Amino acid sequence: MATLTGASLAAVSTLGLAGCGQNTTSSSQSSSGSSGPVTITWWASPIANVGIRNTLISLFEKTHPNIRVKLVSAPTNTDTNRAALTTEISSGSTTPDIYMGDVVWPAQFASAHLALDLSHYLPQSFWNRFAPGLVKGATYHDQVYGAPFFMDAGFLYYRKDLLEQAHLPVPKTWNQLVQDAETLQKDGLVKYGFVWEGNAYEGLTCNWMEYMTDAGGTILNASGTKATIDSTNSLRALNFMRSLITSGVSPAAVTTFEEPQAMAVFNAGQAAFLRNWDYAWANSNDPTDSKVVGKVGVAPLPTFSAANYPGYSNIGGWNIYVNPHSQHISQDIKFIQWITGTQAQTILATRFSEIPTNYAVQKNPSVRAVNPVLATVSEVRLIARPAQTPAYPNVSQAIYSNINAALNGSLAPAAALQQAATQINQALSQNSL
Ligand code: GLC
Repeated sequence: MATLTGASLAAVSTLGLAGCGQNTTSSSQSSSGSSGPVTITWWASPIANVGIRNTLISLFEKTHPNIRVKLVSAPTNTDTNRAALTTEISSGSTTPDIYMGDVVWPAQFASAHLALDLSHYLPQSFWNRFAPGLVKGATYHDQVYGAPFFMDAGFLYYRKDLLEQAHLPVPKTWNQLVQDAETLQKDGLVKYGFVWEGNAYEGLTCNWMEYMTDAGGTILNASGTKATIDSTNSLRALNFMRSLITSGVSPAAVTTFEEPQAMAVFNAGQAAFLRNWDYAWANSNDPTDSKVVGKVGVAPLPTFSAANYPGYSNIGGWNIYVNPHSQHISQDIKFIQWITGTQAQTILATRFSEIPTNYAVQKNPSVRAVNPVLATVSEVRLIARPAQTPAYPNVSQAIYSNINAALNGSLAPAAALQQAATQINQALSQNSL
């Protein structure tokens, strides 16, 4: 079993990305009279199109008749989501009461007072329910700021019908993936070979971590004080990613794709391979959203060298955080206890192919039996983003903007890595001022 240690701490800053245009419900205060139920507002992004949020809310409300949960649909792009929340909470708004936030946010959200220190509200016995490493990932300066909701990891999804038809193996190396893709494209069985997330945003940092780590590269030195991204190993990884596009295995449009776009192309039956998170299994098998139901396989990501198989999967995932200005903290905590408990976590894993954070659920054989992603995650090697610093948003931006420029051909790969290193060092030094 791959251990879940090293899950990332994190950071956030106002990256100045476009606002999300959400209605942020500043008027959703409770009807907290002595008798009526209290309404809490939950800010959460859609998590693919699989209906997780409403399913969980209605079950919670059934078991907690004195609490109502009002859903605010957050942006799917984690950077846009973070920028919108940062504006909202730093203005002192009492809503949302609770929010689903990325695992790479704790360092900055804690240092900017955007998240409540949950250590004071939940006993040690509560934190013991989580898989190893996850609570550490939500901790900043010894306080825990988020309750792990679900874990994500990167996987390779493939069209098993097409591979069978062409008698091709499920690729274990990146070269094999390219060969498979080129054959399927040449034979006219599929339009695109491989789709993934190459837009200039956090998701590209995740994709980059996978190739770079497999090639032997790192972002920072061991003490986290200096960029090491500008290396020959990184260059090999970046040249390969760019070659996916120049060879036509990946469409040039991948440099604008985020998870929903990559997923949509794959679900439309237009790509042989997809890199995406665990929930892509549920999504690609959802008949309302997919034309490839029953035709999909899942495997660990490939490697550059067969001897290193399986490849690295970036650790992602989402925590539940509490707005420090919430007026309903005891209800917020009840929601957190329930959503990380057995019933909710089993639903997440069995119906939505998420990786549960609740360790007992994650290990439960009957849950594993119906979640092929969970069976696969035990085979993969996990790599966390360097999110332990409040400067992480700027570190990540230095990565994804330069990698994206190299991918779309506007910057030579070597120059992109050099510039990324310079900008990462700047971000780290500004943080230590
Ligand atoms: C997924 C991951 C999250 C990551 C994001 C990038 O939602 O869970 O950690 O930052 O993708 O797009």
